[in-house]
Order: sequence, then C-alpha cells, then structure tokens
Amino acid sequence: MSGLSISRVAAVIGEPARHSRSPAIHNAAFAATGIDWVFTAFEVPVGGGSAALEAMRVLQLAGLSVTMPLKVEVAEAADLRDDEVEVLGAANCIVPVGDGRLRAVNTDAIGFVAGLEADAGIGPDGIRVALLGGGGASRAVAWGLAAAGAVDVAVINRTPARAQAAAAIANATPRTGQPGRVGSIDDIAGADLVVNATSVGMGAGTSAHPGRTAHSRRSAMPCDPTLLSPGQVAVDLVYEPTETAWLAALRQRGVEAHNGLSMLAYQAAAAFELWTGVEAPVEVMRRAAVAGR
Ligand SMILES: NC(=O)c1ccc[n+]([C@@H]2O[C@H](COP(=O)([O-])OP(=O)(O)OC[C@H]3O[C@@H](n4cnc5c(N)ncnc54)[C@H](OP(=O)(O)O)[C@@H]3O)[C@@H](O)[C@H]2O)c1
Repeated sequence: MSGLSISRVAAVIGEPARHSRSPAIHNAAFAATGIDWVFTAFEVPVGGGSAALEAMRVLQLAGLSVTMPLKVEVAEAADLRDDEVEVLGAANCIVPVGDGRLRAVNTDAIGFVAGLEADAGIGPDGIRVALLGGGGASRAVAWGLAAAGAVDVAVINRTPARAQAAAAIANATPRTGQPGRVGSIDDIAGADLVVNATSVGMGAGTSAHPGRTAHSRRSAMPCDPTLLSPGQVAVDLVYEPTETAWLAALRQRGVEAHNGLSMLAYQAAAAFELWTGVEAPVEVMRRAAVAGR
C-alpha cells in the first residue's frame, strides 16, 4: 500500500468555541503556506482544560489555541510554562514539545503590541496608557505594554483589587521601572493610548450584563467617549461586533480607533509559528480575521 499523507490537526478549545474566527485564520494560513494541516474548534466547558490537554497528547494534536474559560486551567495543567504564563497565570496557546510534554504560552501580549503597531503605527516605547479592565486580557496587555517600554500604565477597573493585580503585573516585567498603577477616569484625557480590555460592548453571548437585551449590551460603553480627543489612539479589544458603540462614538469625535481583530490575528500568527516553525503569513491571517471565514 502506498503511504497516505494524513493531515495534522490543530484546534481552538473553549466555550463558546463553535463560532470562533480561529479556524478561518489558521486554515487560511495553512493554505497560504502549503502546510497539510487542518484547524477545527472543540467546545470544552469550564473544568475540562486538563482533560483536553490529555486528549491532545493521546490524539497527537499539533497545537491548541485556548479561549475562555480555560486559559487558567490549561496553564496549570501544562508540563512547561513560559515566563509570561508564570506571571499572568493564564495561557492561550499549547505547543507539543515531544515526549508527550506540553508547553503553555501566552501570545496575547505580543499579539496586542504587534496589532497596535500594524493598526496605529505606534509602539509602546515611552507612551502613557489608560487601560480599562482588570481581567485576563487586561493583565496580558499590561504585561505586553510594560515589557515593550510604556512609561505609564494606569489601570482603571470596576473592581479595584483586579486593577491592582493588573498594575502589579505591569511592574513585574524586567524591561521597565514601575509603569503600572491603579488609575481613575482622570487619567484617560492625558493618555496617548486608551485600551478597552473590559468585555463591555461585546455582542450577544457575553455575561457582561446578564438579563439585558443584546441591543443594550451592544450600546454599553467602557467609558464616556467625550473624555477622549483627536490625537489620542483608542483600541477596543472587543471584535464581536467589529464596530462597538464606543468605537463608533470615538471615530465620530475624530479619535483614531481600532478594534481587537489585529490582536486576534497577531496572537494567532505567533501561535502558528510556534506550532509549525514556519513564518506566519500575517496579512493573510489579518484578512481572514476580518472576513471571519
Ligand atoms: N482581541 C483579542 O484577541 C482578545 C483577546 C482576549 C480578550 N479579548 C476581549 O477582551 C475582553 C475581556 O476579556 P477577558 O478575558 O479579560 O475577560 P474577563 O477576565 O472576564 O474580564 C472582564 C473585564 O470586564 C469588566 N467588566 C465586565 N462587565 C463590566 C461592566 N458591566 N462594567 C464595567 N466593567 C465590566 C470586568 O470588571 P470586574 O473585574 O469588575 O469584573 C473585567 O475587568 C472580552 O471582550 C474579550 O473578547 C480580545
């Protein structure tokens, strides 16, 4: 019998995962690079992270992207953790390293910084940032900005203790001094960059405002857009919908405003390179992220 070539399989795990843009992004990258891999999505509920990693070993999956609510579980269940995973306590990417061992990586921070540079043409070095939110995404962005030289990262969050934790993570990078601090809305007007890392504005399916209609969720904003002025840059990590009410209001005021699709594409590009060892076709991946298919 002639040897059949069998595609390698990679996947995103989480809940919800079925409508994730990751399969579109990675399958476009595999097609563009001629790599015989396929990328799919598995719904894995909270508590299933460790079993999913065991399945990855047994099925010899070539890579896993990890989304909510499993980022902390997989970081704990992996055999090896990169430095940023140790600090953040969360991973969004699992890489097999041989002998059945799995390495946990977090590519959200570098994905955010690369997306910022691609969209806005600015890097974090020397900038002042107002960072809205204190969850997993906020912590990754705080880490990425501080590691890349931001001089001030003021974290503003509904729950002050989580703002404190994100600020402390900014201060835990070896690159800079002490850029992280708990901020207030007074910090927004003076920032070069304002980032929404809350889930406010996210489309139907979020638990940001349980009980409200999808419409009222979508019209909610993470901060008053009149606090920002032209000359500032705003990034909303939300990408479902691609144009949040906050982004629309900011653009109307002449503020340069970008959604989270570039971060999504660049975190995927970093994962692609870790899994395949091949340079990621970033533009193809960005286009697939925008198209969503
Ligand atoms: N573009 C990308 O690639 C990318 C990557 C990761 C995440 N994201 C997006 O980033 C967002 C946050 O994700 P996450 O993983 O950090 O979620 P998370 O850990 O659940 O954190 C949610 C954050 O939103 C805040 N929040 C929720 N509802 C709020 C409300 N009604 N008013 C004020 N603050 C509220 C929470 O504040 P409390 O601390 O007070 O609860 C917390 O700071 C999501 O929309 C996610 O889709 C995008």
